[in-house]
Amino acid sequence: MKIRVITIFPEFFAAGLGEGLLGKAADKGLVQVETDDLRAYAGDRHHTVDDQPYGGGPGMVMKVDVWDAALTTAREALPGCRVVLLSPQGQTLTDGGARRLANEENLVLCCGRYEGVDERVAEHLVDEQLSIGDYVLTGGEAAALVVIDAVARKLPGVVGRSESVERDTFTAGLKFPQYTRPPSYREWAVPEVLMSGDHGAIESWRLAEAERRTRERRPELVVATLPGRLRLVAVEPSAATLAALPELQRAYGLAIVAAAIADPEARAAAEKAYPAVKFHGQLANAGRRWSEDEWIHLADAPGPGQLSFAQARHRAIEQAAGVTVSFGGPAPRGAAAAAPALVEAPKGLPALVAWLDRLVGR
Ligand SMILES: C[S@@+](CC[C@H](N)C(=O)[O-])C[C@H]1O[C@@H](n2cnc3c(N)ncnc32)[C@H](O)[C@@H]1O
Repeated sequence: MKIRVITIFPEFFAAGLGEGLLGKAADKGLVQVETDDLRAYAGDRHHTVDDQPYGGGPGMVMKVDVWDAALTTAREALPGCRVVLLSPQGQTLTDGGARRLANEENLVLCCGRYEGVDERVAEHLVDEQLSIGDYVLTGGEAAALVVIDAVARKLPGVVGRSESVERDTFTAGLKFPQYTRPPSYREWAVPEVLMSGDHGAIESWRLAEAERRTRERRPELVVATLPGRLRLVAVEPSAATLAALPELQRAYGLAIVAAAIADPEARAAAEKAYPAVKFHGQLANAGRRWSEDEWIHLADAPGPGQLSFAQARHRAIEQAAGVTVSFGGPAPRGAAAAAPALVEAPKGLPALVAWLDRLVGR
């Protein structure tokens, strides 16, 4: 894979890329990173890459014409490249996002500085914007290093045993705890099962620990540990949402896609048009059906932590604009299971798709 980084600080990258597995990956030719100095594309003798913002305000803004020249050269040098602008306003990089970018042959990373980059760069010159998290850095270089590291790790051969990447945190929830010698240090002992030599017992312990800590620390990642058990029910869906449900089911491996439509005639028409979707007269029916299956998420007389139909409907409508998402798990027939069954889904189909992407770690 070839990665070109466009930056006003090319020297930023030498140390970070020369060490450890990234350095070895470069030596083996698995990933070739080159930097391109943005100032080389500035037309004036001072190599100016920024100017004052229209409308006033503090700081400087990077110029669209300079970025255009740099990106024209980049697209010629790396045909078919994917061009990414690092920005705190982009989609947040996830493990799945890193895997997606690792499929590219050629990647171009654009590092902003100052108050940012003229908006026309984001609008017209790049393919996507990526953030590495909800905080603001002084420049895109540190973010580009993070992207390169995360993407390179996904390339075959970069990490010695691919098994270790396959079981990394975020590939299926959080990774199980790990220990090495000595077996006991002060009064902190390594769990005995790990030293038992019983591979079956070790594997069961690891799976259980991974799931336990995922549920405790990052419950929103639990669906990733339960592939094929994600369910989605749309409440009084719009025509666009309804039409998209079968596709969402395929794309995200959703176990069940259902819709609740109160009006019998509209429901019958939808049933005819979308045979892959399960239809219910109301959300409560869908909930009751599922409660026998896997999750209780609705109750007529709610106990602690359970949702009444009215509450569920309120949440589904108020927070999720008619879309509610539930995920399955072994059936804890109790109160605590109720609330997480209706995790927040965002408004509108594009946002829902982006949200599902994050949910399944793409
Ligand atoms: C100081 S920041 C500009 C922030 C901008 N004024 C704003 O409020 O959105 C300068 C550059 O750092 C990079 N940057 C800052 N935070 C980032 C983040 N969380 N992820 C990726 N890049 C970031 C971007 O390239 C950005 O153009």
